Amino acid sequence: MTIEDHERAKVVGHALARDTLTRLRDVETEQVAFRKGLVKLGRICGYEIVDGLLESETVTVETPLTTTEGERVGEMDDVVIVNVLRAATPFVEGLLKAFPRAKQGVISAGRDEEGGMDTEGRFDISIEYVKMPAIHEEDTLILADPMLATGSTMCAVLEEVLDGADPERVIVLSAVSAPEGLDRLREEFPDVELLTVAVDDHLDDNGYIVPGLGDAGDRAFRTT
Ligand code: URA
Repeated sequence: MTIEDHERAKVVGHALARDTLTRLRDVETEQVAFRKGLVKLGRICGYEIVDGLLESETVTVETPLTTTEGERVGEMDDVVIVNVLRAATPFVEGLLKAFPRAKQGVISAGRDEEGGMDTEGRFDISIEYVKMPAIHEEDTLILADPMLATGSTMCAVLEEVLDGADPERVIVLSAVSAPEGLDRLREEFPDVELLTVAVDDHLDDNGYIVPGLGDAGDRAFRTT
């Protein structure tokens, strides 16, 4: 198992995840490779969640020759994956390889970049589009956003999605996280499990993660 407990979050410790993230960080990685890298990283993270965080049970299986014991992962039908538009789109595409039967929610939440970051390191967030499936008590909710920076977007998303819902567990999955964002989520949503591939150093004055990988949405969608 390669999910490790670190001070602020659980960290996906798989070498392929680190390799893929290193390529994503590289300023020379162009759009197509960047988008494919996010898909690949989502897939690796999905497999790691199945392996490290979900329960499996021993079952009996009839092969064409005999009866033997095997293993089945439970909870696979009770997974809800939320795509936080827009950078999460390729990341979720990969995640779905591990959870092909997941119910999917989509939420468009973005920073008010013009208003900038306030003195507490927070952005105002506007939520423009929400389409969620029903969330049941037995569900595992996975909220995916490759970049967890100030935590402002994810806190707004959690407030929106958990309003009236009480799933069994909630996992926030990111590729790169800033310590500031993880601390804020831990404080405001102590029951949420935080899973990331890297905890970076700090945020710059514009709320970008350093060293980070730049603007994940712009790099994936070539909007700069
Ligand atoms: N969103 C990004 O895409 N990158 C950051 O560094 C912070 C937020």
